[in-house]
Amino acid sequence: MTGHVFLIGYRGTGKTTVAGLLAKALERPWTDTDDQVEAEAATTIAALFASEGEAGFRRRESLALARTCALSPHVVATGGGIVLLPENRQLLRTRGFPIWLTAPPEVLWKRIQQDEARGAHRPNLTVGGLTEVRDVLARRLPLYQECARLTVDVGGRLPEDVVETILRQLPQS
Ligand code: S3P
Repeated sequence: MTGHVFLIGYRGTGKTTVAGLLAKALERPWTDTDDQVEAEAATTIAALFASEGEAGFRRRESLALARTCALSPHVVATGGGIVLLPENRQLLRTRGFPIWLTAPPEVLWKRIQQDEARGAHRPNLTVGGLTEVRDVLARRLPLYQECARLTVDVGGRLPEDVVETILRQLPQS
């Protein structure tokens, strides 16, 4: 795969963990757009949502994606909402190979609750619990589908297993 490999999908799908493992297997660098936004702003995403609103965060997220696209081929973990803006979807589709990691809402809700350490840096988008995960996922589904070149169900699977599946299906060029 000569372009970027983008990992897209809802929170709790393990994009960051899979990105690190996949990059190692492909012997290429990896990055995470959430980490880039936090490093550039020198604060947490939760604080950015509070001070600049979601629109401010989305602007920063788009810039991080555009900057990443200019780099040598990376594995790129993205924030769960990166598909919301059409310009991001355009970049994802044209500048690499987007892989959609997904699982049923019940599984994601469980995984989000277990991921408390990282969750502390995130805005509380899941105050509505499982119902909210279901609603947001349903709304974003067509956007993930519009971008995805490969879809991988991560439910009940270890990240290493997910990486194996991706490696088997990743195009050579
Ligand atoms: C968001 C997901 C988060 C982060 C931000 C918004 C979303 O990323 O970008 O809190 O809208 O789904 P992760 O998917 O890495 O948790």
